Amino acid sequence: MSVTTYDPYAAEVMQDPYPYYAWLRENAPLFHDEVNDFWVISAFADVQWALRNHEVFSSNEGVGAERRPVPMMIALDPPDHTRLRRIVQHEFVPKSIAEWAPRVQQLVDARLDDALAADVVDWPSVVAHPLPIQVIAEMLGVPGEDRIRFKRWSDDTLDALGGGLSPEQSAKVEAAIIDFSQYLYDAILTRREQPADDLISLLLNPRKGEVLTDNEIVSFTMLLLVAGNETTTNLIGNLALAFVQHPDQWALLKADRTLVPQAIEEILRRDSPIQGFFRNTLSAVERHGVTIPAGEKVMVLFGSANHDPAVYPDPERFDITRPVTNHLAFGSGIHLCLGAPVARLEATLLLQSMLDRIDHLEVAGDVERTRNPLLRGVAKLPLRVVPA
Ligand code: HEM
Repeated sequence: MSVTTYDPYAAEVMQDPYPYYAWLRENAPLFHDEVNDFWVISAFADVQWALRNHEVFSSNEGVGAERRPVPMMIALDPPDHTRLRRIVQHEFVPKSIAEWAPRVQQLVDARLDDALAADVVDWPSVVAHPLPIQVIAEMLGVPGEDRIRFKRWSDDTLDALGGGLSPEQSAKVEAAIIDFSQYLYDAILTRREQPADDLISLLLNPRKGEVLTDNEIVSFTMLLLVAGNETTTNLIGNLALAFVQHPDQWALLKADRTLVPQAIEEILRRDSPIQGFFRNTLSAVERHGVTIPAGEKVMVLFGSANHDPAVYPDPERFDITRPVTNHLAFGSGIHLCLGAPVARLEATLLLQSMLDRIDHLEVAGDVERTRNPLLRGVAKLPLRVVPA
């Protein structure tokens, strides 16, 4: 295949972006997309540089393709970002998250019960979609039965990230955000009257005498429901696809369970659930002899950085013995993913239970990739799950 440019919205790029990323890294590490009028950064060192240079590469117009400022931590620069992150980060350290392990294990067991009971199971519908939304809903203390609504709101909000929306789609996104906010305001009212052992109650009474406004709590819980949902869904979908396509790696993991953490990092590296997010430049910046002017949109490609052969030799190869400690799937710098311990906990408990209960997986129909230039997962993955 001969690649001569990069168009994030082209169907073949969304299907398999990696040859296009290779072209970008080799030919245009600071690429200007004339059609969509944004810049693209693709090499590992450059992506890391941009993510760590928030004075120039700002998040304050949102991280999606459209300029959409939102009052959420992910879309704020210091000092507002620093204050919000300081208040909530304690609840997300691995030690606090580990307390959720017994409940997450129950949810994993239920998903695998359903997957094993079916002759052919659509892995996304039965495992990859429900598990993350159940986990984050329970952590927040909002009823799990509402997850169908969360998923719809979350999908609509994520559509906005990728950009290229029609006026009807934009109206749908606005309506979703209003419904979602109203729902969360009601949840806050309930928790104020009846505090419980959940995140919303903690946010209503943060430590160290800090105060979060109701608006800030709504924005933060909405961010968690969206950020913690589709991303982890994609990780769980990519995980099953990786092992079904590489039975040798599955056999290796079956023989040596100590490789589980490394296998999860390799899946995050090789098929990063978030392929890229946007920044906007607050001042002109020069690199590789190219100047990006102030006020430009810049797409920062985590997915390409994680395939940079300068850091990962033979990057397309799926190799669970590869030592991957520095991938950028969770970002880098001040916005480094707050929920990484949650995603890692879910993936670890799921993979360990799969190794206990499943002999192997077989593809049982057509596989479909998700279609969003910023995200990478599986939309359809029909599997025969052969019990151990
Ligand atoms: C495999 C799953 C996940 C992936 C790949 C992922 C990826 C990312 C990335 C790349 C960022 C940085 C965004 C940027 O630099 O603009 C980020 C930020 C964030 N993530 Fe995750 N995420 C995952 C799961 C989660 C979960 C489960 C939660 C919540 C429970 C979560 C909550 C957040 C939050 C709140 C931020 C914003 C942090 C800040 O602005 O300081 N994420 N995530």
